[in-house]
Amino acid sequence: MRIFDIIDRKKNGNTLTDEEIRFFVKSVVDGSASNEQIGAMLMAIVIRGMDEWETEMLTQAMAESGDRIDLSGVDGIKVDKHSTGGVGDKTTLILVPLVASLGIPVAKFSGRGLGLTGGTIDKLASIPDMHTNLTEDQFVSQVKRIGAAIATTGKNLDPCDKKLYAIRDVTATVDSIPLIASSVMSKKIASGADAVVLDVKCGSGAFMKDKRGATRLADLCIKIGRKAGLRMSAVISDMDEPLGNAVGNSLEVREAIEVLKGQGPSDLKELTLRLASHMVMLAGVADSAEEAEEMALKSIYEGRAINKFRQLLRAQGGRDVTEHPDLLPGDKFKGEVTADRDGYISSVDAASIGHAAAILGAGRLKKEDPIDYGAGVYLCKKRGDYVKKGERLMYLYSKSQKLIMDAEDDIRNAVSFSDQRPEDKKIVLEERF
Ligand code: URA
Repeated sequence: MRIFDIIDRKKNGNTLTDEEIRFFVKSVVDGSASNEQIGAMLMAIVIRGMDEWETEMLTQAMAESGDRIDLSGVDGIKVDKHSTGGVGDKTTLILVPLVASLGIPVAKFSGRGLGLTGGTIDKLASIPDMHTNLTEDQFVSQVKRIGAAIATTGKNLDPCDKKLYAIRDVTATVDSIPLIASSVMSKKIASGADAVVLDVKCGSGAFMKDKRGATRLADLCIKIGRKAGLRMSAVISDMDEPLGNAVGNSLEVREAIEVLKGQGPSDLKELTLRLASHMVMLAGVADSAEEAEEMALKSIYEGRAINKFRQLLRAQGGRDVTEHPDLLPGDKFKGEVTADRDGYISSVDAASIGHAAAILGAGRLKKEDPIDYGAGVYLCKKRGDYVKKGERLMYLYSKSQKLIMDAEDDIRNAVSFSDQRPEDKKIVLEERF
């Protein structure tokens, strides 16, 4: 079998065999396929597509390309959550301690951010002394001990996805339903959880721009997950506007702490509670979504959720930023953007804000770029708010005044106004079971 022939067959629109798919995955991982061949194969998949069966085979082969985490020693249904990535998405920071505070073990592997979307590991890295580089033994024993852990995916968890993702990122082949589904679900299968809730983002700041595509992706992931024996459900959530008010690593940690303490922006609270209720339902510890949401709210108001976050920080060496948020990095330069007219804000474009935050230093434009943990954007106003000319719309934070000026074009393009109040928009667009 030759990789050349497999690419050629996909290029001509054929359905690949299980053997061909496994050969491709093996060649990616052992380095016998060149980056050019991998890029060509990915582009052929983007253009010709893959049917459900091929996507399932690709997912299985990728999941088996490296180690599989064994969580069988942890009691209870282990529930995981995965977001397809968005701007200002800090729900993992809230959900892991919140759901764990209800006695449900959450063993979470997360990634670093690339492009517009932030990664949980970068957000946690803004907490002084916090370790996320846990060995499998440390990871599993922490979940046994305190019911929660968040760690970076080790080198050998789904190595095929790591290689494919890096090539997809530079060959314009990220936004393909079979490639996203296989990337997400192979990692989830290899991570060893019993149940997974997907947060499929939809809008300008997401890979899936429309609800139809997001729903197809969610349904496909659910099918693949169930075939692999996982309990699955999904939420499709809006990503036309950043989630919450904070975009940038330490700014997002502060906002996550606010929600864990019962405060914080309403869109972030609503989405987090809905995702929590899905996780609780999959764990089988509530009879209805309403009961599950009540349990989560109660844990927040009784202080159990924030206590679990403190415990998680302690276990992974992090300083207690819940009591001392001033320990989080803040940036020296602060810019301000004001409204240039009276009116309602009709949109705050997530893609433009994500791009501006990356320019300010909060994200990586290239994989090797360093991160400025204190950089970012804080939105003082969002869609539907009425503002007067000159009123503050947002703060910009960066290490350098020049970067603040560089980010201003994106920021100016991000906000649109109208004379009429825009219709209310939901944060949760759809739920799939
Ligand atoms: N998230 C992933 O893990 N993989 C993708 O391909 C896209 C989003």
